[in-house]
Amino acid sequence: MRGVLPARPGAPDRSPRLGDLPEPVAGRGEVLLEVHATALNRADLLQARGRYDPPPGESPVPGLEAAGVIGALGEGVEGWRRGDRAMALLAGGGQAERVAVPAAQLLPIPETLSFEQAAALPEAAVTSWVNLVEEGALVAGEEVLITGATSGVGTFAVQLARELGGRVVVAGRDEERLRPLLELGARAAVRLDDMLPGVVRGATGGQGADLALDLVGGRWLPAVLESLAPGGRCVLVGLVAGRRAELDLGLLLSRRLRLVGSVLRSRSREEKARLVAAFAAYGLPRLADGRLRPVIAATYPLEGIAEAYADLERGGRNGKLVIRVARG
Ligand SMILES: NC(=O)c1ccc[n+]([C@@H]2O[C@H](COP(=O)([O-])OP(=O)(O)OC[C@H]3O[C@@H](n4cnc5c(N)ncnc54)[C@H](OP(=O)(O)O)[C@@H]3O)[C@@H](O)[C@H]2O)c1
Repeated sequence: MRGVLPARPGAPDRSPRLGDLPEPVAGRGEVLLEVHATALNRADLLQARGRYDPPPGESPVPGLEAAGVIGALGEGVEGWRRGDRAMALLAGGGQAERVAVPAAQLLPIPETLSFEQAAALPEAAVTSWVNLVEEGALVAGEEVLITGATSGVGTFAVQLARELGGRVVVAGRDEERLRPLLELGARAAVRLDDMLPGVVRGATGGQGADLALDLVGGRWLPAVLESLAPGGRCVLVGLVAGRRAELDLGLLLSRRLRLVGSVLRSRSREEKARLVAAFAAYGLPRLADGRLRPVIAATYPLEGIAEAYADLERGGRNGKLVIRVARG
């Protein structure tokens, strides 16, 4: 089958290349998904550079999410039939014509959504869910700051936080591109700069944010922590702005702040199954009626994968980059 070749360690050219891959086989508890669309994630850029290997035992082919039709069922799979439309949260393997997926990491695609729309959802939705609901323990009425809100994850997290009753403030580098996030339910959009703490306090009636979902980290983490109200929590989910920061630890003590680091991909299959089920119960009805929706910046054919990766790296767009996988 055709798909994106696994990264070769030390290879000089890091742009993704299409080629022939071995056919995946659905093992016990897995299904074979005929992929109609997949979507890109920041992690794909790191994986292409050999800096983010898949968890042991998972496919070395890139692709953390896909949507398509179930082509075959492995042993012991119940509740799914051949021909069902499904979207999948993956530890790898989505950027190919077929992928073997644990059945418990599938969600049915609501009738109102296309394969392209569905492919843009699993990673953003489950990342948003685990970090807002479980790690962040968001309570209705709380002030929520989301940095890197223009991203694929951010554009979904804003909507989910709003649905959960959060009062959302978004932060990013480009004020123009923050504006559409107000239509997704953010109450205020602020620039990610050194003025952030004061501006966030101004936007939250003087108190600061109860919860921050930080998708950028690095040099912005101190300002994000400074933006928190006493007793506030920060869930650090991304490091696009860097892996190092100098923190005033006195601030953590005096304001009784909590800083949590979180990653989805390396969690066990059992934990992913639990998270997918928890999101499905809450999110599927809201996806079906449009209260939650994927935000797609651009769609490419599988043959345009190198251009799509280059666009992901360049940035400057809101939402997800989706890859269409044509069926023969
Ligand atoms: N921990 C996990 O389990 C997990 C799972 C999924 C994603 N993530 C992380 O979540 C973040 C979003 O992922 P994605 O795939 O949705 O990303 P994406 O769509 O590629 O968006 C990247 C985002 O990062 C911002 N950004 C890029 N460079 C920046 C810099 N130097 N300083 C400040 N902001 C910068 C961009 O903001 P502009 O609009 O200003 O360009 C944009 O909002 C990434 O950090 C990713 O690694 C983590």
